[in-house]
Amino acid sequence: MSDSQPKIIVTEDGSHTIYLKNINETYHSFHGAWQESNHVFITSGLEHLLNTGNPPTINLLEIGFGTGLNAILTVQKLLGKSNVVNYHSLEPFPLDPELIENLNYTNYLKNEQEKQLFKTIHTSTWHKSVPITGNFTLHKQKITLQNYQPDRSFELIYFDAFAPSKQSELWTYQIIKKVTGFLTQGGILVTYCARGQFKRDLLALELQVETLPGPPGKKEMVRATKN
Ligand SMILES: C[S@@+](CC[C@H](N)C(=O)[O-])C[C@H]1O[C@@H](n2cnc3c(N)ncnc32)[C@H](O)[C@@H]1O
Repeated sequence: MSDSQPKIIVTEDGSHTIYLKNINETYHSFHGAWQESNHVFITSGLEHLLNTGNPPTINLLEIGFGTGLNAILTVQKLLGKSNVVNYHSLEPFPLDPELIENLNYTNYLKNEQEKQLFKTIHTSTWHKSVPITGNFTLHKQKITLQNYQPDRSFELIYFDAFAPSKQSELWTYQIIKKVTGFLTQGGILVTYCARGQFKRDLLALELQVETLPGPPGKKEMVRATKN
């Protein structure tokens, strides 16, 4: 494997993430991939939506499918619930299946059913809506956010792009305007980033902005709601 290829590394909670040497960036916090994804996207995003509006159907958009960690945590949270999630995930640079197989996320899943679901998420066909469970449909699309035009609006957005210092083009006012424009009224966007300019742009776009405690090792995160 050459040094410019994605490489698995272990984060502080023991769970894996991917490291890209060319941009010196990881897919998750090195303080803990599993706990970051759970805290930012599941607890502060999906669970919050279920506890507040509790919409029977949630159209969910993820920016950056990557390892599929947010997807499997979402499937896991929905098991035994009646809410239906249509999960639409954008990923212009899918990871090699061999790399995915070596990720240790199945060690964190509760049982064989959940482990199998992680595999199903990864083997599901791209550019097609695929039922993964009775209440979770996955549509993976090989496309950049810049080129993406949705055919629906979204109750929930997981904004999981690389950090603004590494991928500034995904954090411009125009892109934030575009992506928040996909939200339904009352829809929410969650991200691990709490940069001042990002929050000012969200406020300028008339979103309600909450700065919430971040996952272990990170001070803050953001949840934005469209009123
Ligand atoms: C911080 S990682 C998060 C990945 C994923 N959510 C996970 O849990 O593994 C950012 C992801 O965004 C993807 N990405 C890069 N450029 C993108 C773009 N222009 N539009 C959408 N996604 C992009 C990367 O390939 C990477 O998978």
